[in-house]
Amino acid sequence: MANNAFGIDIGTSNIRIYNQSDNSIFMEKNMIAIENKNTLLAYGDSAYDMYEKAPANIVASFPVVNGVIADINNMETLIKYFIGDLSKGGIKPADYIIAVPTDVTEVEKRAFYDLIQDAGIKAHKIHVVEKAVADGLGLGIDVKNSQGVMVVNVGYSTTEVSILSLGGIVLSRLIKVGGKAFDEDIRNAVRKEFNLFIGEKSAERIKNNLRKLVEGGQNAVCYGRDIVTGLPIEKQIPTPILDMSMRDSFASIIDCIKLILERTPPELGADIYRHGIYLTGGASQVYNLAELIEKGTGLKVNQGEDPIDSVVLGLAKVINEDKYRKLAYVIEGMSPR
Ligand SMILES: Nc1ncnc2c1ncn2[C@@H]1O[C@H](COP(=O)(O)OP(=O)(O)OP(=O)(O)O)[C@@H](O)[C@H]1O
Ligand SMILES: [Mg+2]
Repeated sequence: MANNAFGIDIGTSNIRIYNQSDNSIFMEKNMIAIENKNTLLAYGDSAYDMYEKAPANIVASFPVVNGVIADINNMETLIKYFIGDLSKGGIKPADYIIAVPTDVTEVEKRAFYDLIQDAGIKAHKIHVVEKAVADGLGLGIDVKNSQGVMVVNVGYSTTEVSILSLGGIVLSRLIKVGGKAFDEDIRNAVRKEFNLFIGEKSAERIKNNLRKLVEGGQNAVCYGRDIVTGLPIEKQIPTPILDMSMRDSFASIIDCIKLILERTPPELGADIYRHGIYLTGGASQVYNLAELIEKGTGLKVNQGEDPIDSVVLGLAKVINEDKYRKLAYVIEGMSPR
């Protein structure tokens, strides 16, 4: 075992790294900005600052798409820089535990392992943990001894619905709906109803503030371009329009939850009924989603205090607590190094 260990949750929008040496969690945007096709200009939050604002010769992109690694070279670069920043005095050999989605192909899963092995970060042992298992641990559930736990993680571009029992995954389904789809819903509604074209970041800001606006009885103030005149303008949008715009996306999530519940063995179903659904992931905080899941399924919805960090908090437990160590495994066909 190396002296230090890192736990990494490589999300489509955010990357989170637990660093055992100082017991800290690091989070940045999982984005890279490349200038003139080959020069690294910025990474993480500073690359995101350029997103939607940069000239044509600067391309800011997310190397992970729909929960899987789409651009391995740029993802390796990001890992190397992030780990470098966290390793005071240079990168030293360390063990790595990576959270991986369940409902993806073996090749896609293995890419997470290859990424760490090839990133030039002196990886000693590399293990993976199913994301939903880490999520459950991070939410404070004793996943090893629970029989029947439903975890729903609503992230940036995916929602993963999983049933856990005795530390393993019984069922899991990944659908391509998350915060990004909600932002798109808001953009489409504002364009259709108000002839206003707004950027992704503006839509995201409005979505994340919706609850506060509704509770304060305020309209959303949207800045964008008037489609008719072509000029920049500010408009006041009533919140019910924004809330309703996301309902189809919410319905896809609720349908997925119901489908998984229908397929869950009845003995586990009883436990899920007793404890309710555990809802997590950054976008699970969106206004009305938890309420509509409760209405749609008839089950209680539990929300953690730190939904954006629950997976990485779970990885920290796997690293630090002996009784959870076995939840991490080596990908088949790969010998432990
Ligand atoms: N208060 C909030 N209300 C609604 N949505 C929020 C809030 N805070 C963050 N989000 C959304 O959460 C999403 C990011 O969540 P998260 O970090 O869990 O995703 P990810 O892990 O990067 O993506 P994925 O799991 O799909 O790979 C973004 O769409 C962001 O807008
Ligand atoms: Mg995620």
